[in-house]
Amino acid sequence: MRVLLIGFGVVGQSFAELVDSEASALAQNYGLRPKIVGVVDSKGAVLSPNGIDLKKALTYKRESGSLERFGDGTYLRGRTGLDAIKEVDCEVVVEATPTDLKKGEPGLSHLKAAMKEGRHIVCTNKGPLAVAMPALIELASHNKIMFKFSGTVGGGTPVLDFAKKCLEGSQIRSISGILNGTTNYILSKMSSEGSRMKDALAEAQRLGYAEADPTYDVGGFDTACKLVIISNYVLGSSLSLGDVKVKGISDVATEDIERAKAKGQTVKLIGRMDKRPRVGPEEIPVTHPLNVSGTFNAFSFDTHPAGEITLVGKGAGGKETASSVIRDLIEIRRTFAR
Ligand code: HSE
Repeated sequence: MRVLLIGFGVVGQSFAELVDSEASALAQNYGLRPKIVGVVDSKGAVLSPNGIDLKKALTYKRESGSLERFGDGTYLRGRTGLDAIKEVDCEVVVEATPTDLKKGEPGLSHLKAAMKEGRHIVCTNKGPLAVAMPALIELASHNKIMFKFSGTVGGGTPVLDFAKKCLEGSQIRSISGILNGTTNYILSKMSSEGSRMKDALAEAQRLGYAEADPTYDVGGFDTACKLVIISNYVLGSSLSLGDVKVKGISDVATEDIERAKAKGQTVKLIGRMDKRPRVGPEEIPVTHPLNVSGTFNAFSFDTHPAGEITLVGKGAGGKETASSVIRDLIEIRRTFAR
């Protein structure tokens, strides 16, 4: 399976690392042999129809912040994702550029172009889905390609397909959860160590959990965006970001957390989809299933007739999200190998 990787940041690099380190297990267990024939970052691209040496790509990128050391002929300075989509012969495009929640770019243009070229898509970028999810799903079906985006919600936790496939037969009455790893990490640090929000955020950025624009995390927009994706995918709604009432955690003070503690409660940033979609800090009992710490995400489905079902897993981080890309590639391979 020839793969064009667009975006070589935390997720893109972790994906390349997994493809390299797990190559024999993936081939043996799933018949999946991803060959990365192109890697595009913000400055240029490395294209090689025979497959790129991923160890080299990772070393060059980590040491110099660029892929330039591949040298003339292989490294093409200024080549963009759109150029590569047109030039490179591949079965799958992996879109892992940073999220832009306003226009969804450059991811949105990458997805449209890849669909027109008939490439299957694995997308970890939430922006295009926040802006144009129903249109993209229609375009994918029109072009008869698979459009997978399980890494956009839950990171490595397969919440989208869990809700869609494993809860079949149940009525999902509402969804609530902790959908952002960065803010959960911050609130957990404030609660357990008395950290300042600013310091905890800086730590989350250093560890690669936060968005390129961290106001998306702290302001609640990343949670809202994931709420839109999960609601549209699982409940069949056609929400966009503007439909969600959003409040972030900027106003949460250590005193609020201490006050909650004294009542056996804890403060969490919760996304809810029942009558209307909304995001905001809430006090929940410390015994509540949604009370998870660090970068864990938790998703609670109120179902009929089975009642409350909660799924917990790591929701941010390079290798966690990269594992969702592998999962999506396995599904694409399985579907088209039939
Ligand atoms: N910034 C996001 C988070 C990354 O903290 O959850 C995963 O979507």
